[in-house]
Amino acid sequence: MNASTASSWRRTLTSEISRISGLAAAIVAISVVHSATAQSPLISRELLLRLYYLPILVGAYWYGAPGGLLVALASSVAYVPHVWETTRRLEAGRYAEVVVFHLIGITVGLLATGQRRIADRYQRAAATLERANRELRDSYEQLQRVDRLKTLGEVAAGLAHEIRHPLASIRGALEIIAEHSRSDGPQAEFSRLAMLEVERLDNLVWEFLRYARPHKPNLQPTSLREVVERVGAVLGVEAERAAVTLQLVPCEAMPDLFVDALQIEQVLLNVTLNAIQASPPKSCVRVCQHVEEGYALIDVIDEGPGISAEDQARLFSPFFTTKEKGTGLGLAIAHRIVRAHRGQIEVQESSPSGTCVRIRLPIQRSNRPAESSQSSQATT
Ligand SMILES: Nc1ncnc2c1ncn2[C@@H]1O[C@H](COP(=O)(O)OP(=O)(O)OP(=O)(O)O)[C@@H](O)[C@H]1O
Ligand SMILES: [Mg+2]
Repeated sequence: MNASTASSWRRTLTSEISRISGLAAAIVAISVVHSATAQSPLISRELLLRLYYLPILVGAYWYGAPGGLLVALASSVAYVPHVWETTRRLEAGRYAEVVVFHLIGITVGLLATGQRRIADRYQRAAATLERANRELRDSYEQLQRVDRLKTLGEVAAGLAHEIRHPLASIRGALEIIAEHSRSDGPQAEFSRLAMLEVERLDNLVWEFLRYARPHKPNLQPTSLREVVERVGAVLGVEAERAAVTLQLVPCEAMPDLFVDALQIEQVLLNVTLNAIQASPPKSCVRVCQHVEEGYALIDVIDEGPGISAEDQARLFSPFFTTKEKGTGLGLAIAHRIVRAHRGQIEVQESSPSGTCVRIRLPIQRSNRPAESSQSSQATT
């Protein structure tokens, strides 16, 4: 039992004890007043007798028919000797009151239980509705993201086409210049340099295109440990520059995953780079692997300033960035890749002393890429 369960259990116990003591005290108080006024006029005695109904009604309301019955029984035990004391004979009418105590206790108890069941049903229906509403909102946000990424992919494809076309012409022109100039002359040297720049631009455009439109995942048995180690090696320099210790915590029990190694590497690069960029100097970024219920979990934990709830809601949307030179695409792309692997990526925890981003990938062999992601990728 954890501390919060124990404390809630203690609170419930205290409240039950005070309720039961309240009921018992009410019965005792009524009996005492009843005895003290034994000789007073009939009307006030009759009135006091009816006060027993108060604890009976409250007991029935709180604890249903069993509660009503028990309080009615306790009230009868208090009431009957008193009647005997005052009358010294069997007065059917006064003893019949005891039967009414019990009938009222049971009836009100049954009604209260019925009422509570209806209230519970409404509460459950409200919770289901709330859940459905949340899921609908999530799907809508997901659709919006896919839509924006699709637009981005189309823009990227158009841009790539527009840029690569003139680049091909420039390359052709440079080759002609190079052919018609002396191989050791300055013209040949300049055209060689220009050709290198053209190639660099061409690669850049393709890189952008690849970034904006990831291919359908090519699922192959992959060692997650090796992927994480490659990410560690690539980001080592970045971490050193930021004076951040990058710690990789592997999991011995981790089986090979059926994933697209390059895409998962891209995801881990984006997430870990964010963690390094958010970390203060001399802090530590940990990339920890675990296995949990058929999923491989990769937690990227930093000691940075955390992500506000408001920012968390927009984190995976394309172009959301708080960095001067950020594109805001890192997490949007990571989200799309992970979804295409039927996995999840989420902020598991975030506070002013750090953030944990959790990536969850299915372990089983049959993890084909998600249909919706495939089709969305095919169109983007
Ligand atoms: N570990 C983290 N701690 C604090 N903020 C984070 C963390 N990870 C992401 N963020 C926030 O999420 C935003 C979006 O991240 P994302 O990787 O998508 O884009 P970016 O890092 O800004 O730009 P890019 O990745 O293209 O260079 C970041 O600008 C940053 O504000
Ligand atoms: Mg980033």
